[in-house]
Amino acid sequence: MRTHNWIRLTAVLLILAAGCTKEDEPNDATKAKTIDEQVEALLGSMTLEEKIGQMTQAERGALTNITDIKTYHLGSLLSGGGSSPSSNTPSAWADMYDGYQAMALSTRLKIPLLYGIDAVHGHNNVKGATIFPHNIGLGATRDADLVKRAAAVVAKEVAGTGIDWTFAPCIAVPRDERWGRTYEGFGETPELQVMMAPAAVQGFQGTLSGKNTEILACAKHFVGDGGTAGGDDQGNTVLTEEQLRAIHMPGYVEAIKQGVGSIMASYNSWNGTKLHGHKYLLTDVLKGELGFQGFVVSDWEAVDQISGDYPTAILYAISAGVDMVMVPIRYQYFIAELKKLVQRGDIPMYRIDDAVRRILKVKFRMGLFEKPFTDRSLTATVGSAAHRAVARECVQKSLVLLKNSNAVLPLKKNAARIHVAGKNADDIGNQCGGWTISWQGMSGNITTGTTILQALRKAVPNASAVTFSVTGSGAAGADVGIVVVGETPYAEGAGDNSQLTLSSEDLSAVANMKAAGIPVVVILISGRPMIINSVVSEADAVVAAWLPGTEGEGVADVLFGDVNFSGVLPHSWPRSVQQLPLNLGDAVYDPLFPYGFGLKYGM
Ligand code: GLC
Repeated sequence: MRTHNWIRLTAVLLILAAGCTKEDEPNDATKAKTIDEQVEALLGSMTLEEKIGQMTQAERGALTNITDIKTYHLGSLLSGGGSSPSSNTPSAWADMYDGYQAMALSTRLKIPLLYGIDAVHGHNNVKGATIFPHNIGLGATRDADLVKRAAAVVAKEVAGTGIDWTFAPCIAVPRDERWGRTYEGFGETPELQVMMAPAAVQGFQGTLSGKNTEILACAKHFVGDGGTAGGDDQGNTVLTEEQLRAIHMPGYVEAIKQGVGSIMASYNSWNGTKLHGHKYLLTDVLKGELGFQGFVVSDWEAVDQISGDYPTAILYAISAGVDMVMVPIRYQYFIAELKKLVQRGDIPMYRIDDAVRRILKVKFRMGLFEKPFTDRSLTATVGSAAHRAVARECVQKSLVLLKNSNAVLPLKKNAARIHVAGKNADDIGNQCGGWTISWQGMSGNITTGTTILQALRKAVPNASAVTFSVTGSGAAGADVGIVVVGETPYAEGAGDNSQLTLSSEDLSAVANMKAAGIPVVVILISGRPMIINSVVSEADAVVAAWLPGTEGEGVADVLFGDVNFSGVLPHSWPRSVQQLPLNLGDAVYDPLFPYGFGLKYGM
């Protein structure tokens, strides 16, 4: 081959190795813009009204007309607890979401909506969805990989209804069990927050790269929600900065490392100042020092709590670093007042641009512009057997065995008779707890699932060997008695409780069973440790089952010994409420059962 051919061949090979020839170099118009470039281009084309619209989240039920999405350029909607379409089915949810999204895409700039919901232990507003144990039970598993798998299942079920954002994980560190939201946190230590926060975020978000099974996560509530005095919901967290950082912040560091796209500000105050107006914590610490790149969303009407004068409250919140406001009812008023604050120069445009930039970046990262509508191939996965199997594993691993005298557990499947009692034995609503179908949750047959009684009957060859009376009557002659007691559903402040005692109905059911002279197993269905000293001494075995959700078979699996106990306490168990707050590491530490306690078969 002549020399010049060698040179040509070499040149071609070098160009090919380089990837493309000069003339192949795409010009600016066709070069794939980076997300930052797309955001800047879009931001630069937006009016003030369009920018403020992106910062506004309205409750779907508050829309005076669906066209308000277009009129006010709304960037986000939410379903508050229980805010469901009239026919509460996965496909009706997807139709509803797609309808809102289509309206958003009819705007001048076609910026897709973000739709948020509290999918905090499954897609818990949706009838037939898989309901997982609340976080306190997941904390008892100490299994981060399981928490990630559970969150990934929830993400698929949420995405199957079109919705793209969950206000989860709640990574509160509940330090006083009198708090009505104790069950929403993984447990009383920052170690549990650090273990589970990134796992949950990864399960929900994956790499937040636009996959149909990924949804936006929201670590909440920043910061110190679980540390209020007396466990007073939305109260005042009185701590030094060093204590606040050491107890309530480590999980956020991990969630941010995991790339969490949103963080919800907390209702509580820190040493008397409302978090929603706390510029040092929301901006200097969270966005500056911790490097949070996503956006801060307010809590429900939390901005209103900053000041009696709403415009002043808005000024403080946005200036402090809130990027999106969950208004969520009087969104027209919010928009009008924020616009005035910007036009008067009280809020500089660079703060508005920073907020909108953060929101748009997340929307681009999620692939919402490319794929704004429901992936209907996921809709049928809502409540699927495969998903329920993951929830059942969570239940199995969440149970904590507190007492097992005379090896009364495991139960025998060939027992002549197992007598069951207690208000929580055959009540799917009670075993799911708050944030289920409705905001507060409720007793009764509220959704598809398996109660503990049903599970016991499914587990034995002869279902009629499992008898039931809610009061415990008729126990005489049975081989063993199972009494399922505890709390009925509640959420947030409605659950604040200064006594934590069992009801007289529960105590009577235990006593009736005991009076029959048979071995007694007590199962506690509750969102937190309760004062159970008398029951512990009366019963032969005691199991903390937390709020297990729809998969009651997970309880039967362990009671019959098909699966061993593995759960350990995520909270120190008090002897009395006078001991509260009672936490690992206290100088005076005398719990009924210590943090980390849990028995197993064969111990
Ligand atoms: C509630 C809760 C918050 C929830 C939000 C939307 O008040 O504090 O956890 O995400 O409102 O339902």
